[in-house]
Amino acid sequence: MTRVLFVCLGNICRSPLAEGVFRRVASEAGLDGVFEVASAGTYAYHRGQGADRRAVSTALAHGVDLRAHRARPVDAGDFETFDHIVAMDRQNQADLLEICPRAHRGKVSLLLEHAPELGLDEVPDPYYGGADGFEHVFTMIERSCRSLLENLRPRRS
Ligand code: 4NP
Repeated sequence: MTRVLFVCLGNICRSPLAEGVFRRVASEAGLDGVFEVASAGTYAYHRGQGADRRAVSTALAHGVDLRAHRARPVDAGDFETFDHIVAMDRQNQADLLEICPRAHRGKVSLLLEHAPELGLDEVPDPYYGGADGFEHVFTMIERSCRSLLENLRPRRS
C-alpha cells in the first residue's frame, strides 16, 4: 500500500479535490486498494468542516463526490504515516518543510512537479475567486493527478 497525503492551506478546496480525483483516477486504472489517499491543511481554522460548496459542486459535475470530506490539519504523525506528501503551492510546501522531521523531507513535493508537461508551478488558491476558478483548478488537478499516478503506480516487470 502506498500512502499519499495531499496538502493545501485550508483543506476545504484544493487538497480535497486532489484526494477525490487521485482516488478516482487510481480506481479507473484498476488500482483500487493500491493507494491510501487522504488530505490535510497547514492551517487548522476549518477543522471539522466539509469541503467548500464550490469545490463540492465542481467535483460532483465531474463525478467526484466530496460530500463526506471533513477538514483536518496536518499533524506530526503524517510525516511517518504517509509515503508521499504532495503540496498544492510553494507556501504549503514551505510550511510543511518547516515542521517535517529531517528524515522525511524527501517525501514532500509539489503536485505540479509530477506533471512537468503542463509547464505550471502551483495550483492557485481558488477560495477568494469565482466558480470558474474551481473549474480551472479542477482541470489542473485532474491532469497532474494522472501524471502523479503514472509516477507512483507499481511497475510491471
Ligand atoms: P484551500 O483554500 O487551501 O485550497 O482549502 C483555502 C481555504 C480557506 C482559506 C484559504 C484558502 N481561508 O483563508 O480560510
